[in-house]
Amino acid sequence: MTKRSTPDFQTNTNENSKGRELMPKITFIAHDGNEITVNAEVGMTVMEAAIKESVPGIEAECGGACACATCHVYVDETWKAATGEPSEMEEDMLDFAFDIKPTSRLSCQIKVTDELDGLRVTTPEKQF
Ligand code: FES
Repeated sequence: MTKRSTPDFQTNTNENSKGRELMPKITFIAHDGNEITVNAEVGMTVMEAAIKESVPGIEAECGGACACATCHVYVDETWKAATGEPSEMEEDMLDFAFDIKPTSRLSCQIKVTDELDGLRVTTPEKQF
């Protein structure tokens, strides 16, 4: 198993910046057990955090419009409540995803918040 992670902090260059801010960490676990931990920004989606760091297994062909189901992930059971329930539109799109499970979500529909620091999601064996 290989593990990769990005640095804990970013330097915010915004003039209203308070300097360095802690960024929520999200761990993506591949179906083969490889883990990649990335630093996300509050307000982006889990999918965007994956794409920013080139996490394998997240295709995101529609760019986050909830129209392709190629950003499918399984949310770790312990994080299910924190990530919330999928919308009706997301559930409809999940019907097109590969090997859906009760913990399936579209990562483009999960907004990153401070409360999601430590989130763990697993990518399916394939996206379609
Ligand atoms: Fe297309 Fe999430 S990126 S549904």
